[in-house]
Amino acid sequence: MATNLKGRSFLTLMDYTPGEIRYLIDLAKKLKADRAAGKYGDSLRGRNILLLFDKTSSRTRSSFEVGATQEGGAVTFLDRSSSQFGKKESLEDSAKVFGRIYDAIEYRGYKQSVVEALAEHSGVPVYNGLTDVDHPTQILADIMTIEERTDKPLSDVKVVFCGDTRNNMTYAWMYGCAKMGMKFVAYGPKELAPDPAVTERASAVAAETGAVIEFSQDAASLAGADVIYSDIWASMGEEDQIPERVRLLTPYKVTMELLAQTGNPDVLFLHCLPAFHDFETELAKQQMELDYDIREVTDEVFRSKHSVVFDEAENRMHTIKALMVATIGRQ
Ligand code: CP
Ligand code: NVA
Repeated sequence: MATNLKGRSFLTLMDYTPGEIRYLIDLAKKLKADRAAGKYGDSLRGRNILLLFDKTSSRTRSSFEVGATQEGGAVTFLDRSSSQFGKKESLEDSAKVFGRIYDAIEYRGYKQSVVEALAEHSGVPVYNGLTDVDHPTQILADIMTIEERTDKPLSDVKVVFCGDTRNNMTYAWMYGCAKMGMKFVAYGPKELAPDPAVTERASAVAAETGAVIEFSQDAASLAGADVIYSDIWASMGEEDQIPERVRLLTPYKVTMELLAQTGNPDVLFLHCLPAFHDFETELAKQQMELDYDIREVTDEVFRSKHSVVFDEAENRMHTIKALMVATIGRQ
């Protein structure tokens, strides 16, 4: 039966079958090829998408805006400072209003329960643009990028995530690898161990798909990795925890030595971005003055032949466009 995602929300990869995830990634590859050939569709003509942000964003917001516009759609950006959202009316009331006006809603913020409530009360597809515990659109772009760079089937691909192994990226990866039958190692300190409930949910899916999901402090688990993945050590909203994170995570910083420990000369380096890899940002400089080196990856790795972070960033747009076309597009 042909895959049909019309009217579906995208709150977590756990709600999607492996076939549906495959469909979205393949559609993104097609839309990318179309764009390279100068072809743009109009499948979102007449569609209006609300972009609601409680946290900041560059890639995700840009991807929704450009992706929608290239397919003939239109977007509205709202945050708390410029709207009544979260201030003068309940979440339920806001969701009902947005559902009357928009064809879909993207939300980025803190609690997963907010995207769930928006979906429940708006009656239109809701896309999770990142919460404290998930970042599903990022994984679509990441898997697409990996597939562009390897001939291996996903079932043979091993991803090692280095760093804060209880953050949204780790959990999104656990779900993505579980669904797609991949091998995943969360490589980080026991103080930042993944929530057992998340590991349990991912492992239950892994048992069906043949995926392997592990948490390890042992550098031996880097062996045979196809992908080393990193993310900032203190996620949005956790900046006060930087000193503690630097203490815990410095041994997990991605360096050329760490890449060598994979034993794979072609190992790929991926990062959702933004990344601290140099001292060009104010935050990195300020922390360095306080003696905290917050770089989760060295500049050498970030700029090396292993790094595909800008392909990955571009693929955010193609995958997010595919998600909108698949769920609210005309065809
Ligand atoms: N990777 C990602 O979600 O980037 P932004 O925070 O810039 O959207
Ligand atoms: N873990 C990061 C991801 C940014 C895309 C954060 O939540 O800030």
